[in-house]
Amino acid sequence: VNNNLKPFTALACPLDGASLSLDGSAWRCAHGHSFDQASQGYIHLLPVQHKRSRDPGDSKAMVQARRRFLQAGYYEPLAEALASHVLQGVDAAVSVLDAGCGEGYYLRYLAGRSPLPQLQLCGLDISKPAVLAAAKALQPAAWLVASNARIPVPDASLDVVLCVFGFPVGSEFARVLKPGGRLIMADPGPRHLIQLRELVYDDVNLEKGRRREVGPQYGLTKTSSEQVQFEFELPDQASIQDLLAMTPHLFRASAAGRARVDALSSLQLQADIEITLYNRD
Ligand SMILES: C[S@@+](CC[C@H](N)C(=O)[O-])C[C@H]1O[C@@H](n2cnc3c(N)ncnc32)[C@H](O)[C@@H]1O
Ligand SMILES: [Zn+2]
Repeated sequence: VNNNLKPFTALACPLDGASLSLDGSAWRCAHGHSFDQASQGYIHLLPVQHKRSRDPGDSKAMVQARRRFLQAGYYEPLAEALASHVLQGVDAAVSVLDAGCGEGYYLRYLAGRSPLPQLQLCGLDISKPAVLAAAKALQPAAWLVASNARIPVPDASLDVVLCVFGFPVGSEFARVLKPGGRLIMADPGPRHLIQLRELVYDDVNLEKGRRREVGPQYGLTKTSSEQVQFEFELPDQASIQDLLAMTPHLFRASAAGRARVDALSSLQLQADIEITLYNRD
């Protein structure tokens, strides 16, 4: 047990922004809205009227594939780079939200660093299976089924927001950050998983990166960026299928592309990830 780890507890009603307090097994606001605290350690803060589908976000199978892949350590250089950025310049305490946390790997990695300042951790994802998996693997954190479109925390309440291969919502990230707070985004660069993309697609467009700038219109100023590049090898079909299942490439692959991937017994890959840092004005 690390005493420096605490859940972030300043939660707000996703319907009206009023503060929430825990009453038995439910979080309630002053206007009578109530949200379950699940026994597995997460809070369901996504009202039905904010759902676009019955089971939004990553499926259970995608979550399990991502868990196996990340837990094997292939993206550890990225986790290390992100943890260094989060802890940069922090002396006593820092509150961190991972917005679109998936199964929680990057917050778990951060929590395992030492020495640690006081960390108040919050992870949210629109996928219930993802948040459930995250909550089971790391207890001292607030794990929320919620959306980046309406982050259920008060204005100016967080020091750091992380968005890793996620769906950034600049206005919300700016709203929840304290003045001087930091947004840390990670997105695929042009050569990310290039060998896999060359197998899956007939025509790979190198210029078509997926980087999305959140922009100064929200009061977020870009301060720096870092390109994280490393190589790794997937040693068997199972790990190759796990990587494919956690990327958009599985859905977009042609039948011929799938067949090429299914025939592999190992795969050497390049990771090329852009980390972009922003400061809240
Ligand atoms: C590519 S995955 C990345 C997950 C995690 N950051 C990681 O790198 O392991 C994208 C995640 O965004 C989640 N997601 C999709 N739409 C979302 C939204 N509106 N708000 C929060 N999370 C969302 C998905 O459920 C999925 O877990
Ligand atoms: Zn309310």
